[in-house]
Amino acid sequence: MDPIYFKTKDGREACVRTVEPADAAAMVALMLTTSAETRFLGYEPGEFPYTPETETEFIQKALADPSHIFLVAEVAGQLAGELQIKAMNARRRFTHRAGLGMVIYQAYWGHGIGTVLMQAGLSEAKAMGVEQVELEVVTSNRRGLALYQRMGFKVFGTHPRAIKYADGSYADEYLMQVQF
Ligand SMILES: CC(C)(COP(=O)(O)OP(=O)(O)OC[C@H]1O[C@@H](n2cnc3c(N)ncnc32)[C@H](O)[C@@H]1OP(=O)(O)O)[C@@H](O)C(=O)NCCC(=O)NCCS
Repeated sequence: MDPIYFKTKDGREACVRTVEPADAAAMVALMLTTSAETRFLGYEPGEFPYTPETETEFIQKALADPSHIFLVAEVAGQLAGELQIKAMNARRRFTHRAGLGMVIYQAYWGHGIGTVLMQAGLSEAKAMGVEQVELEVVTSNRRGLALYQRMGFKVFGTHPRAIKYADGSYADEYLMQVQF
């Protein structure tokens, strides 16, 4: 994918591009920091298991896998967020489906970065022949829900107690999908 250059809502230079192995250390920092900033991710704070070395291997595998879309967003040259869309199951009967995950540093929320990442990711998925993209989102994640609905995703179910936090509390998740 060619890089997409744009300006954040407060006028900073930003870019969405395909991940590179050199992003590994910044990716680990993103996941470790954001897992402590928000309860809307699948990791407890500090739980992200990759090191810069193992993340480099993960990125190399992703780049070699035609069914894995892995994009990053940068603001003023610094990693601000990431989005991945990946085939859910390699078997023939499931290749029309792909799952989506994304995260942005809290400091950059609400600047339109999620929108550009999502537009780029969905357009790549469509070009790959994916027919539907699916995700799960915590029901109280108003910002995420607003973005997904604006991008055409529809709720098709609720997963009760999809998440159990370390403090013993639960969160339900909406199941969402967009069909092309
Ligand atoms: C969800 C997330 C990826 C969205 O990225 P983002 O860059 O903040 O998204 P954008 O700025 O492009 O759009 C967010 C939209 O939500 C809207 N919004 C913000 N707060 C809102 C709220 N409390 N209620 C409803 N809508 C809200 C914004 O106005 C914006 O819409 P607009 O552009 O029409 O004004 C990002 O906030 C994030 O990483 N959150 C934490 C991790 C997470 O939730 N990941 C997804 C797990 S499924």
